[in-house]
Amino acid sequence: MTPKPCIIDCDPGTDDAIALWLALASPELDVRLVTVAGGNVGLARTSANARAVIGLTGRTLPIVAGAERSLLADFRAEPAVHGQDGLGGVRLPEGPPLAPGVAADAIRAELRAAAPASVTVIGLGPVTNLALAFATEPALADRVAEIVLMSGAWTEGNITPAAEFNAWNDPEALSVLLNLGRPLAMATLDLTAQAFVTPDLVARMAERAGGACWRAALDILRALPASKRFGHRGFPLHDPCAIAWAIDPGLFGARPARCEMDLAAGPSRGRTVIDRWDRLGRPANLTLLETLDAERFFALLAERIAGLP
Ligand code: RIB
Ligand code: CA
Repeated sequence: MTPKPCIIDCDPGTDDAIALWLALASPELDVRLVTVAGGNVGLARTSANARAVIGLTGRTLPIVAGAERSLLADFRAEPAVHGQDGLGGVRLPEGPPLAPGVAADAIRAELRAAAPASVTVIGLGPVTNLALAFATEPALADRVAEIVLMSGAWTEGNITPAAEFNAWNDPEALSVLLNLGRPLAMATLDLTAQAFVTPDLVARMAERAGGACWRAALDILRALPASKRFGHRGFPLHDPCAIAWAIDPGLFGARPARCEMDLAAGPSRGRTVIDRWDRLGRPANLTLLETLDAERFFALLAERIAGLP
């Protein structure tokens, strides 16, 4: 098995943290670069969190900060979910320093050095950094094997009734990626709802011994607030679903679909209008992840992260 060269753009963020640990624990992925956007709790905090999360693994890899705001507006943070610190109050040792430069430039440099159709580009937050990279050097799209995003919804949103947080925070950036003409897999809220975390599940997972990363992941899962969208019974674990697709697509049911972005001002701005039944007769521009084998997903997550330092 040849590991997939990967770039991960994120906004840690509690679920981003667990997603980063899953990625760095998995031999299927060769994480070459991690870039950071403001998203969940503002760039100062998300950058510090990315450094701390990656530092806890003992791995050395470039972490580069990028967008403090979207292409057209400020990000709207989500401290109610992630806590003011962005990690649910879980305190980690300070991580290594950021690499110099700006995320979009680092992404372009990594792609420029890559073989054609070789790099898996994973987006776990508002995809401003990724859009800036490809908008300023479109030819680099041919170095991309696949784009994998946690983004969007085909039913209701989670930051507005119509839109999911990452898509809503920079819908123009998502539109750039959807029109890039490269394979793109999307884990929407409808998929991540199947990666549902309950207190019983966390208690069962905690029976597995592990190192500092695993203990911190469990602390984060204990700290995350139950979602009113799910009757306060637990919460969906969003970002690790995108990483799991890159590791083992066999965990998922998926189909081609067409996604159009609603970019107009108003209550549905940022909506991913996903045509699952080809009603528009337009060519598919994404692989829509529809079903998840949740038992195997959580078993993979626990086995991999528990094996980290
Ligand atoms: O809507 C969920 C997404 O928004 C996740 O990526 C979470 O980290 C937030 O960024
Ligand atoms: Ca995120």
